[in-house]
Amino acid sequence: MKCLVTGCAGFIGSHLTDALLAQGHEVTGIDAFTPTYDRAIKLHNLAQARDFAAFRLVAADLVEADLAPLLADVEVVFHLAGEPGVRQSWGERFSAYSRNNLQATARLLDACQGRPLRRFVFSGSSSIYGDAPDLPWRENTCPQPRSPYAITKLAAEHLCRAFHLDFGLPATILRYFTVYGPRQRPDMAFHRFLRAIRAGESLPLFGDGQQTRDFTFVDDIVAGTLAAAGTDEAVGQTFNLGGGSRVTLNDVLTLLGQITGATVQAAPRSQQAGDVRHTWAEIGAAQRTLGYQPRVPLAVGLQRQWAAMP
Ligand SMILES: NC(=O)c1ccc[n+]([C@@H]2O[C@H](COP(=O)([O-])OP(=O)(O)OC[C@H]3O[C@@H](n4cnc5c(N)ncnc54)[C@H](O)[C@@H]3O)[C@@H](O)[C@H]2O)c1
Repeated sequence: MKCLVTGCAGFIGSHLTDALLAQGHEVTGIDAFTPTYDRAIKLHNLAQARDFAAFRLVAADLVEADLAPLLADVEVVFHLAGEPGVRQSWGERFSAYSRNNLQATARLLDACQGRPLRRFVFSGSSSIYGDAPDLPWRENTCPQPRSPYAITKLAAEHLCRAFHLDFGLPATILRYFTVYGPRQRPDMAFHRFLRAIRAGESLPLFGDGQQTRDFTFVDDIVAGTLAAAGTDEAVGQTFNLGGGSRVTLNDVLTLLGQITGATVQAAPRSQQAGDVRHTWAEIGAAQRTLGYQPRVPLAVGLQRQWAAMP
């Protein structure tokens, strides 16, 4: 299979790229190396991929690049490129969110139109549910996004749906629930917590710690994303990809103490704008249609992330 992976140098995109190459597929990876975090980290994410002759890295911006030649003969597009992070999406930085989440998606969809693609997989976000009260969230739970990030991710989903309905693009939309594991972005909670523990510092904890999250190990997300590309019934559908369980952040701190052997001290901070209280995925649709099954329990996944800390 010849694939295009956008955002290939990022946290999840690099794992997906590694998995595709390991399965013998040909991968063109596009990444603009946006300055959300260090370029050297992103290049390091691609260390394994770059050993493969079947991998081609194109350092390019989806909003500006000539996409037609990059899509030649491509069968499956995995669209992961985007501006991540809820808290940073307010104020002046919104332009980066609307550009990299919305404009980039629109441009890529336009370039895909009329091509004989087998699948276009979009990496959406659980943040689109906001604080919807009817937990666990099903795919038909009414979205109530409450951050600029979530709003751009929801709008990008709708763009994919419109291209599916109006032009027959074989799109599948995935909603990832807080992804963790080796290479996790430096701004994400587990990465910050583990970095603080290693430095002997207290852990920055926003809110009272009783908020819950449905955490998903990156290998499970990759498995679900690959299944979305390989399942015909997935076309035109939307799927939650969650970890199958949820925990409070206070429980996470206890677990981190057990894993690292450190005495974990929280440094409470006020809740941040855009943060939701709870997240919880109903994953029945992904289980039935994609054969999706999260396999890595939180304690195991966190241990792997800790062991892989640079
Ligand atoms: N990490 C999570 O928990 C999570 C949860 C839900 C959804 N997602 C979505 O999954 C995707 C990947 O997230 P991640 O955590 O790996 O983020 P990441 O920041 O590590 O990776 C995104 C990559 O996209 C690239 N990029 C951004 N704008 C681009 C553009 N215009 N052209 C080309 N490349 C561009 C960046 O340089 C970056 O390497 C994102 O779309 C994100 O919204 C992630």
